[in-house]
Amino acid sequence: MRKVGIVGIGQSRFGIRSDASLRELSFEAAKASLDDAGIPLDDVQAMVVSVASDELSYALQPSAQVVDYLGFNPKPSFRVEGACASGSMAVRTGWMTVASGLADLVIVVGAEKMTEVSTAAVTDVLGRAGDFMWEYPFGMTFPGYYALIARAHMAKYGTTEEQLSMVAVKNHHYGALNPYAHMRKEISLDKAMSSFTVADPLKLYDCCLISDGAAAIVLASDKLAGSLSKKPVWISGLGLGTDTISLSDRRDITTLDATVEAARQAYDMAGIGPKDIDVAVVHDCFTIAEIAAYEDLGFCAKGEGGKLIEEKRTYIGGDIPVNVDGGLKSKGHPIGATGVAMAAEIAKQLRGEADPGRQVENARIGLSHNVGGNGQHAAVHVFQVD
Ligand SMILES: CC(C)(COP(=O)(O)OP(=O)(O)OC[C@H]1O[C@@H](n2cnc3c(N)ncnc32)[C@H](O)[C@@H]1OP(=O)(O)O)[C@@H](O)C(=O)NCCC(=O)NCCS
Repeated sequence: MRKVGIVGIGQSRFGIRSDASLRELSFEAAKASLDDAGIPLDDVQAMVVSVASDELSYALQPSAQVVDYLGFNPKPSFRVEGACASGSMAVRTGWMTVASGLADLVIVVGAEKMTEVSTAAVTDVLGRAGDFMWEYPFGMTFPGYYALIARAHMAKYGTTEEQLSMVAVKNHHYGALNPYAHMRKEISLDKAMSSFTVADPLKLYDCCLISDGAAAIVLASDKLAGSLSKKPVWISGLGLGTDTISLSDRRDITTLDATVEAARQAYDMAGIGPKDIDVAVVHDCFTIAEIAAYEDLGFCAKGEGGKLIEEKRTYIGGDIPVNVDGGLKSKGHPIGATGVAMAAEIAKQLRGEADPGRQVENARIGLSHNVGGNGQHAAVHVFQVD
């Protein structure tokens, strides 16, 4: 297989984007990524699109709306779907297309428009990403799933509500420095702790945002990457894990086995371990998810995730900076865009181009971790620069 590098990155501003439709958000991100690569769309040979929800976009094949608006006809384009991990699965598909030799230049576009319907409607649609027959009809929602995981983690490992809130404080701190983030404001621990309960023990600030947004990356074979970018960001490890759709069928709900498996594959492929990672973005859809990710990715021992954030070891200057773009919590979580935005963020970090205050100095190896549903899918990617 051929080496594959990221040579272009682009993102729309995340937020309540009543000024732009799904296709316009996609254009914003795709154009930025092509400008960054310094190529016209005509040079690109295939397009992979990630829009996670038909219902939220009110279209049966939302990816076709994007492809048509970008004017990609008649070249190959297709959609990849895996709930909130759709974006990383699209990156993986783009990587496979280039690595296999099918194409030399591929664009991956992720987008979602979520804020035109009520929170109740979004909660209902997302809830159906879980076990549609045995959990959803009995009232399970995503805040509900992660509240169960949080309670189990607290009972087994002594994780506290304060530690959960500390994840939110960190992610809002860095999100405030990110011009593309949905909610750019610092919060205090007290503000997070005293926010209203969404699904006990999770409060408002334990939950990610419901956002509109898009992200895009351009992938090139090693044959072209060097001539298109001064610093191609190589995707050196990919892992994808799958687990039961029903939370009640899981071995242990404090661990996402799909993450453990995906991380094992990605580390093996890249020939590295967790200690080698300079910067990571992880799937903090709820604050407990970030704490579990620290453990499942091997950044600390099982049960020690709460301590890791309490000791600020996932801030810049600590053992491993995590979500210094603001994470899903503050940067926002337009579900189909998230995995692509994660790849773009790590590429930005490894190129040394992140905003002041949130750039990890001399970062050479980065990792992204993206979860679909309540852990049915997890994708872990490793990125490196020469
Ligand atoms: C937490 C949640 C229920 C709040 O929604 P809501 O109660 O409808 O909140 P509203 O949109 O009415 O906003 C109320 C206020 O809280 C703020 N707010 C909304 N969501 C927020 C969040 N997640 N974090 C912090 N503040 C938030 C709003 O900006 C608004 O502030 P203002 O009063 O100063 O304008 C919603 O954000 C949510 O469901 N998040 C999770 C989404 C999800 O599950 N994604 C998939 C994960 S896998």
